[in-house]
Amino acid sequence: MNSKQWVVSSTEAINLRLVKAAPPGTEEEDEEDVVEFNPVFTYPIFGEQEQIYGYKDLSINIEFASGSLASCFSMGYKEKNSAADKIYLKMKDFLPPDIIDNRELFSQTAKKDYTGFRPMGTKSGEYRIQHEDYENSVFEFYDATFNTPRFKDYHRRMECFAIFFIEGASFIEDTDEKWEVRLVFERVSENGHETYNFVGYCTMYPYFCYPDQVRMRISQFLILPSYQQMGHGSRLYQSLYNDFCSRKNIREMTVEDPNEEFSDMRDKNDMRHLTANGVFKDLKAPIKKDQIEKTAQKFKLTKRQVARCYEMALLRNLD
Ligand code: ACO
Repeated sequence: MNSKQWVVSSTEAINLRLVKAAPPGTEEEDEEDVVEFNPVFTYPIFGEQEQIYGYKDLSINIEFASGSLASCFSMGYKEKNSAADKIYLKMKDFLPPDIIDNRELFSQTAKKDYTGFRPMGTKSGEYRIQHEDYENSVFEFYDATFNTPRFKDYHRRMECFAIFFIEGASFIEDTDEKWEVRLVFERVSENGHETYNFVGYCTMYPYFCYPDQVRMRISQFLILPSYQQMGHGSRLYQSLYNDFCSRKNIREMTVEDPNEEFSDMRDKNDMRHLTANGVFKDLKAPIKKDQIEKTAQKFKLTKRQVARCYEMALLRNLD
């Protein structure tokens, strides 16, 4: 027996599906609008090789109601051998604790949640984007902690996205009340209904900073694949930065293990902000250490990030 033919890639086999029910009372009432994508990382679940053994034509569906994130697990395959991996057992600890496997029941829940689900926490901002698919959408920020009613349960539904999309991510301690979370939702007004879809979120932790301030550390920052490259990440980043600047007890904003995509987004936003505030006017090399320190202090950014921005500004001047 050729064992290779029984091996499949776990990232390719898993389909994450965001399911939006159709508005009640319309002709499409029984149809569902589904956006599907694969995870980027599955090694915490299936090991470094990201492989599943023992199946042919395997497909694993993890479906989420697009707003409430109520979820459903199902899988299908053409053949399975006797030593096949126990997939659900491996995945269980990484999936929402209230995930179900009854597709019919899930459809009913998605339908109910389509009009019934509302974000939790305190609304802290909103914006629109210029995009033909989102003309009827307003994007809203909601702030929550683990003390916010309904949030702990919601977080348990959404945290698997961190495992699937952020390298090195782990679940955060939801008994720690110091965590702050900003959520992004899309509010859609259609057919007389207001519905909400989950777009992304950021978790932050305030670390003590001698003598009486805090250093706010961005821990997990995520925009779902179907909403990426539209400016949502930048809007979320800017909203947090503005918020930190207005809070006197926050000394600086730091980021835990930023990846390349996040760093790109962060650099672009910081460069724009520092440029608009005249930081790079009459810029001449070499930049003195105390100039970096002063800028970092004034703009609540880390010295390292400010030095990086000065370097980029100098390189930009060469062109
Ligand atoms: N239309 C088209 N493109 C746009 C628009 C727009 N209206 N607005 C901005 N963009 C472009 C930006 O210019 C940028 O493109 P470029 O880098 O090619 O020039 C790109 O879109 C990204 O900017 P945003 O759209 O603001 O960023 P996005 O919403 O895609 O978020 C992020 C970026 C957070 C990295 C997202 O891709 C993501 O969540 N990825 C998966 C998880 C992840 O990697 N998270 C970060 C881990 S590190 C950590 O958590 C600390």
